[in-house]
Amino acid sequence: MTELPYLNLGCGAHFHPEWTNIDFVSTGEGVIAYNLTQGVPFADNSFDVVYHSHVLEHFTKEAGQRFIQECYRVLKPNGIIRIAIPNLEAIINNYKELLEQLKANPNDAYLQECYDWTMLEMYDQTVRNSSGGEMVNYLSQHKIINEDFVIERCGYEVKYIIDNYRKQKKSLTLQNAYKPSIIQRVVNLPSTLKRKLLNYLLGSDTRALKIGKFRLGGEIHSWMYDSFSLGRLLKSAGFEEIKEYTVSESGIPNWNDFGLEIINGKTRKPDSLFMEARKK
Ligand SMILES: C[S@@+](CC[C@H](N)C(=O)[O-])C[C@H]1O[C@@H](n2cnc3c(N)ncnc32)[C@H](O)[C@@H]1O
Repeated sequence: MTELPYLNLGCGAHFHPEWTNIDFVSTGEGVIAYNLTQGVPFADNSFDVVYHSHVLEHFTKEAGQRFIQECYRVLKPNGIIRIAIPNLEAIINNYKELLEQLKANPNDAYLQECYDWTMLEMYDQTVRNSSGGEMVNYLSQHKIINEDFVIERCGYEVKYIIDNYRKQKKSLTLQNAYKPSIIQRVVNLPSTLKRKLLNYLLGSDTRALKIGKFRLGGEIHSWMYDSFSLGRLLKSAGFEEIKEYTVSESGIPNWNDFGLEIINGKTRKPDSLFMEARKK
């Protein structure tokens, strides 16, 4: 297979085999394991395209600046950077809209749920201390009355989590219909008791280490961007022709053939801001 001079940084499970793909840990054949806070491990002017989707927000503001400078360095002159990132402006607009509606209808259960989900979008991935955070608890509820809203906001990946949980729960229920396992009994404990048990078992230093390791492991969000702040960041690194795009529009030749942002006609991450810029 020919390798295009296209680079996907922090690719996770979404990569194209003809690209050069990198993540913290190798997520598939040919995916290079590398910690990108240490730089982008290629020579100057190596790639025609540098792309990252929902990665920049995992770096602190300072580390993000260095990362974008690194992207600039490894791009060839005239090369394109494409960034997909949670859209801070859209999240805030959504929050404000829901808050206004709730002020007028404070007892509306559906609106309350949409508001709660929006608060999770704003904060959960920043403050969580364990994988999945409160979002996973929310998505693993037996019934989600605003499922349509949640999927419209965050796309099919969230639907996948909901469906998976329901399948799992069904088999757990069948399996444990008469005799819950010890794990199941612990899972069923009230959360204050679960926390006490965990502290007792781990001791507070071990717990602090565990949280620290998790928080440095690439899952949490460390900064957020809108079109203004991302545009300014790109400009400060030397990029030109900075422009917002839709999911299917791009200056990258044959962009839609790679299936990185649209799968089976559906946008993977509809909560995204998509921006591109060019190295002169
Ligand atoms: C939200 S996921 C996005 C994955 C993929 N780009 C996508 O669009 O689905 C963020 C990815 O960034 C990776 N990541 C975060 N910090 C990283 C770092 N310092 N070095 C390498 N990868 C990192 C994570 O491992 C994870 O795969």
